[in-house]
Order: sequence, then C-alpha cells, then structure tokens
Amino acid sequence: MSVSRLVVHNLRNLTNVDIRPSPAVNLVYGKNGSGKTSLLESVNLLTLGRSFRSHKIKPLIQEDRPVLTVFGRVGEGDAGVPLGVSRARNGESVFKAQGRPVESLAELASYLPLQVINADAFSLLEGSPKVRRQFLDWLVFHVEPDFYPAWKAAQRCLKHRNTILRRGRISTPEMAPWNQELIAQTERIQAFRVACFERLMESFSALFGELDLAQGLNLSLYRGWDKELNFAQALESGTERDIRQGFTGVGFHRADIRIKVNGQNAADILSRGQQKLLVCALKVAQGKVYERITNRKCVYLVDDLPAELDKIHRLQLVSWLEALGTQVFITGVERSALLEPWLGNTRREIKVFHVERGEITSEDYPSGE
Ligand SMILES: Nc1ncnc2c1ncn2[C@@H]1O[C@H](COP(=O)(O)OP(=O)(O)OP(=O)(O)O)[C@@H](O)[C@H]1O
Ligand SMILES: [Mg+2]
Repeated sequence: MSVSRLVVHNLRNLTNVDIRPSPAVNLVYGKNGSGKTSLLESVNLLTLGRSFRSHKIKPLIQEDRPVLTVFGRVGEGDAGVPLGVSRARNGESVFKAQGRPVESLAELASYLPLQVINADAFSLLEGSPKVRRQFLDWLVFHVEPDFYPAWKAAQRCLKHRNTILRRGRISTPEMAPWNQELIAQTERIQAFRVACFERLMESFSALFGELDLAQGLNLSLYRGWDKELNFAQALESGTERDIRQGFTGVGFHRADIRIKVNGQNAADILSRGQQKLLVCALKVAQGKVYERITNRKCVYLVDDLPAELDKIHRLQLVSWLEALGTQVFITGVERSALLEPWLGNTRREIKVFHVERGEITSEDYPSGE
C-alpha cells in the first residue's frame, strides 16, 4: 500500500499542501517548527482520523480556521482509492472513502495500515503493559478476524464481573455465567495472542538475532495470570482478592510482553539508541508478519530518524525498511543525515521534500547527488 497523493489544508502550520509522494522513499527535511511532523500527522489522520501525537483535534486545526481537511489517494498508483477526512473546531467530522462516507473508523483504517516510529516509540519499553499489549493486539486484530469479537465479549464479561465485585455482595449464581463466558473468551484470546506472538518473535529474531545487542535479550508473553495455572484456576484462586479490591486482578486485560536483558527490564539497561533500535526492529517485524499473512504492506512514518540513532543504527533501520520494500516517510532536520543511509542502498524511487514555514517543495532527486 502507498499514498500517491496527499492534499492538506489548515493542519497546524500546513495551510495548503499538495504533494505526490514516491511509492518508496520520502525524505522530509526542514528546520525545527517547519511542519515535518505535521505532514506525518496528516497521513495518520487520513487513515485513523486523528494524530499520533494526541487524541485532541483542536490543536491540530490551524489557528483561526474552523476546519482542517486531508485528502489522499491510497493504493497502487493513480488507481488508488480516494480518502478524505475533515475535522472541524465545532466537533463535526467527515470521513470518506471512494467518495462515500465510511461506516466506521475501522473501515477507514483498513485502507492504509500504518506503523509509526516517533519519540513515543520508547513507551513500548518504558510504558505500562497496556502499550505493549496494544502493540501485540494490533497485529492480532489485523490478522485474526475472530479476535475482536472475542475481545469485545471478554470486555463485556469483565465489566459485569467488576460491577458485581464492586457491589460487595457476591452471589454465585449471578457471577457464574460471567465467569464461564470470561474463561471461554479468554482462552480464545490467549490462543490468538500466542500464535501471533510466536510469528512476531520469529520475524524479530531474524532481524535482530545477529546484532550484539541481542545478547541476553529475552522477550516473553505474559498472559495476564500465573503461568502454572489455567485461567479458570487463576480466576478461582484470585476471587477473594478480587472481592477485596473490587475488580478482576487477572486476565487477558493484564497481558504484557516482557522485554528483559539478562533478567532486568530492557528500559533500565539499554541506552536510548539501543532502545530505539530495538523498538524499530519490533515495528519492522510486525510489518513483516502483517505482510506475510495479509499480503499487504504497511506504510512507515518515521519522525526524526536521526534522533538517538548514530550513523550505524540509522543504516540498520534503513536496511530493514528497504528489505520490507514499503513506502516510508522519514523526517529530519538535516537533509544529508536523511539521505546518506539510502545512497547506494536502494534502487527504488527517492523523493526529497523541503519544508519551510508550512510550505512544502519537492526537490529533484537524484540529479545533483
Ligand atoms: N494549531 C496550530 N495552528 C498553527 N500553527 C500550529 C498549530 N499547532 C502547531 N503549530 C505550529 O506548526 C509548526 C509545525 O510544527 P511541527 O511539529 O510539524 O514542526 P517540525 O518541523 O516537526 O519541527 P521539529 O523539527 O521541531 O520536530 C510549529 O511552528 C508549531 O508551532
Ligand atoms: Mg517534528
């Protein structure tokens, strides 16, 4: 998948942008505050209806303007699907695909699977289990159609179970059906997650296994309860604690990917650059598994490539992205630092865009390089 045309109006300092990205490598450079991240946000908006920076819409809309719009053509070349998003200060939104309003944001998202690597990437190591759980579940959701219904059903059970727990007076006949359904759905969720995690690890090891950094590194899937017990047993043995606390303390909603180096949390041991490369490898591995299963490629948005990564690490990420053969949008302040890792390492089309105070110009490349 790729974005072949991108038209943006009134998104932060991007008043009027109209570009035709390369289906391969798009390098976006410009000074601090010029509008590079805003351009990546526009791609995110086009497919997810919001920014990756925040869920808030108002800060995205240009000051003194009532509405922002992003239009894009997504797919192979001019035959791509037109997508359009507009978000207004008064809360109104329009999401369209092929000229028609979309049924749901999930439909919009299905047109363009995205992977984002930005300053937030570290949260995959430093953040709460929720971040890593969502990372895994993104893949499970996209490759296993039965996952979402199971997850929704389990959430519903959990909600009812917690309501009963909060009331304090537990009656077994009232609780039993929720427990039973929760156990059944949790087993399904768990099986889907394990299958995806195994594929993810296979792909991750192929990328990362050879690096020095892989020494002592261990990633494991924590199911959300004691590994010695099945979920029914874990739920049973935790009942008293759950009653005391007023919520369900074990389950699919507590799952995590544990990332350790010699037994310690990777976030406490690895340097910033090492952490970033590790996260990049996980995201590239995810794109790879996604492609293998669905036959579709994710588009990668890499905000501020040089941040935290030295030359060798930049080259490493670029070689992974090149091997994936996906469309990439990569930003940075210095043109040369963006371009250097690609020179001689790709035969695909590189487009270089310069951003200055919200104006974007496409530079001729490779002439003059
Ligand atoms: N709602 C808004 N209306 C107008 N301008 C805005 C709005 N929100 C942010 N800006 C401005 O838009 C500009 C672009 O910001 P952006 O984050 O895209 O810059 P950048 O090129 O990524 O910079 P950096 O290199 O520092 O990351 C900034 O100057 C910012 O102050
Ligand atoms: Mg930026």
